[in-house]
Amino acid sequence: MTLMLGDVAPDFTTETSAGEISFHDWVGDSWVVFFSHPADFTPVCTTELGRVAQLSEEWAKRGVKPIALSVDSNEEHISWIPDINSYNNTTVEYPIIADPDKTVAELYDMIHPNEGDTSSVRSVFVIDPFKKIRLTMTYPKSTGRNFDEILRVIDALQTADRAEVATPVDWKDGDKIIVPTGITTAEARERFDDVEEAFPYLRTARIREN
Ligand code: BEZ
Repeated sequence: MTLMLGDVAPDFTTETSAGEISFHDWVGDSWVVFFSHPADFTPVCTTELGRVAQLSEEWAKRGVKPIALSVDSNEEHISWIPDINSYNNTTVEYPIIADPDKTVAELYDMIHPNEGDTSSVRSVFVIDPFKKIRLTMTYPKSTGRNFDEILRVIDALQTADRAEVATPVDWKDGDKIIVPTGITTAEARERFDDVEEAFPYLRTARIREN
């Protein structure tokens, strides 16, 4: 069954490079970026897992915990991590799930047979503290992801939750937001700063920080 936005992320217990975890317990009250890669000891994956480690302060600032998965064994993960660390001048501290029997990869539809049925594609799930899936992305094996974009979406989701707003194309934290369609422009002027109305359905504004 395909996982959809708003679904509860399926729970599982698994071996990882940082010990055994029960996923929901491990999530706790954090946000999570759960991402799969095709295989250990491959070039694109080595750059991706290093970038996620380099961004550790950015994840922490947002209350986000990263966790990776591939269908390799835990022994392979543990012997690959020094390569990731030395190539990217970083330290991988987040867990990498070992899923050699593909249980978790199949639970999360991370294996797309048209891209090869022996390993996962580059899936991303952003999961909120209620364990709800808030974003899914699927990249082909040949293309490394842009984790700055994933941080940007998390900023947008957290802003949408906090201020009940939407965010426009290419929005970045600090930019003007979109006023929700359910309120009038007069109400928007009471609630937000710098309200501009391009059309009755397209109003931009700044969140008033108290
Ligand atoms: C890579 O990480 O370089 C890679 C892995 C599997 C297929 C293609 C590229």
